Amino acid sequence: MSKITVNIPQHQYEIVTGKNILKSLPAYLNSGFKTNRLFFIIDSKMYKRNTSKVDQVLTSTGNRSVKMLLTATEKNKTYESLIKIHRRMIKSGCGRDCIVVAIGGGITGDVTGFAAATYMRGVRYVQVPTTLLAMVDSSVGGKTGINLDTTKNIIGAFHQPQRVFCDLEFLHTLDKTELICGMGEVAKYAFLTNEKFYDYVYHNFDKILKLNNSILNRVVSESVNFKRNVVEKDEKESGLRKILNLGHTFAHAIESVLNHKIKHGQAVVAGIAMALYLSGELGILNGDKAFKYFRLLEKFKPYINFPELNTNKMYNVMKHDKKNRQNEIRFVLFNDFGNLLLDVKAGKAQVMLAVKKGLEFFA
Ligand SMILES: NC(=O)c1ccc[n+]([C@@H]2O[C@H](COP(=O)([O-])OP(=O)(O)OC[C@H]3O[C@@H](n4cnc5c(N)ncnc54)[C@H](O)[C@@H]3O)[C@@H](O)[C@H]2O)c1
Repeated sequence: MSKITVNIPQHQYEIVTGKNILKSLPAYLNSGFKTNRLFFIIDSKMYKRNTSKVDQVLTSTGNRSVKMLLTATEKNKTYESLIKIHRRMIKSGCGRDCIVVAIGGGITGDVTGFAAATYMRGVRYVQVPTTLLAMVDSSVGGKTGINLDTTKNIIGAFHQPQRVFCDLEFLHTLDKTELICGMGEVAKYAFLTNEKFYDYVYHNFDKILKLNNSILNRVVSESVNFKRNVVEKDEKESGLRKILNLGHTFAHAIESVLNHKIKHGQAVVAGIAMALYLSGELGILNGDKAFKYFRLLEKFKPYINFPELNTNKMYNVMKHDKKNRQNEIRFVLFNDFGNLLLDVKAGKAQVMLAVKKGLEFFA
């Protein structure tokens, strides 16, 4: 088991990672809070595959607990879901002292976190991420939100959890595609952290997919620790935190144009490839190591198949990315492991070429 403490101004919380640590959740909820309502929002697909494990938590927390299931799709990451959650919270008698608990992937965590952030001007919540992506990324750092029309995560709030429980056992019921998606965010951390971690992820790629416990523990902990460090320095993304968006400007546009026919983590991998190509176009990337940078991305090729993609539409979506300033697209670009450039502008021709090369890489 590993414990990482996040120190945000006026709020400190722990991220606990390990096998079967869900067992410690009831004791934490029972001892840590004075409240008469624990409101659980639970990913329905995950729940089907882990019913007794999750029910044990609900039973152990007694009749204070209310369970609400959520079907985790991007189409459900909406105001409609938010309203349903809030209505149910009101009906269940949730007061300002209630604790909301998200058990699920990134969609469940983001919607639940936003529901908690906006209910009675903000109530406390706990994250129990059950996908690799949610463990290494979305459950850490307090970004919560929903989509509106075709724009992802455009409505949201920064709201930090009370604690995060990453129980690696959940990964055993996850579909392989979802593991690959989580590996997309892990790959991002491999580029952001340092060459040593990149090599570790590269050499252990297959063992991670086979859910080797100690390797998973290290990969999740290192990724979380990297994100912790960034979030502590820049909670509200006014500067440094933008590096976590490596590949994401491209990725969000891909997801939007393809109407979520490919998953976030897969889009992130393609987005990283495009960001590397764009870094090359602009002379930012360290050319001596270019061969090495794509090695990890090569590992994803068997798992990523793009349907036909309208790249002009993709460019237009990027133009409306919420990270833009003065109507210009701003990219996070890559010089070397652990060395990123923020807010880089690029011409349309260069961007379109990077998109084309990225798509060809996975063709
Ligand atoms: N808040 C942030 O900082 C942040 C960061 C990265 C991504 N995100 C968001 O996270 C979302 C993606 O998260 P995700 O990849 O976890 O997707 P997800 O929540 O859709 O989960 C993926 C799928 O796995 C299922 N599932 C979850 N846990 C399971 C388990 N243990 N066993 C079996 N099935 C399980 C879900 O039902 C779903 O079908 C996106 O909406 C993205 O925008 C947020």
